[in-house]
Amino acid sequence: MTSPCCDRRRFLHASALTAGSAALLTACGTDESPEPATPTRAEGGSWTEVMPLADLEVGASSTAEIGETQLLLHRSDEDTVHAFSAVCTHEGCAVGTEPERFACPCHGSIFNLETGAAEGGPARDPLTRYPAEIDGEAIRVQA
Ligand code: FES
Repeated sequence: MTSPCCDRRRFLHASALTAGSAALLTACGTDESPEPATPTRAEGGSWTEVMPLADLEVGASSTAEIGETQLLLHRSDEDTVHAFSAVCTHEGCAVGTEPERFACPCHGSIFNLETGAAEGGPARDPLTRYPAEIDGEAIRVQA
């Protein structure tokens, strides 16, 4: 039979282990986040009209260029356009568009249309995001 002292000691010991495990799991979860923040290209480039708004329907994706910069575009709703570099973060191939994702033809990496996060294949880092906006009847990107 255990005394009240031992029960209390066991309870405190178990509580400490539980708290320590929770802290450890939280720390591990932070380090292994499956969807890292998408890096945004530094502000300061000029805004360029890349496409008429009518050419990118809601839910659609497309490619565009600013000089030699290849872009991927996705319009997620009436007022929101996302722009990313088309350079694959695995080994630099040109990423293309598919109905539900951006996809790299070289080794099969796939990326989220709205966040640019790597969601499959060998790429681990997200696509680089560019600021994008709808300005009247045009889509503009800052690059
Ligand atoms: S270069 Fe894109 S998956 Fe390898």
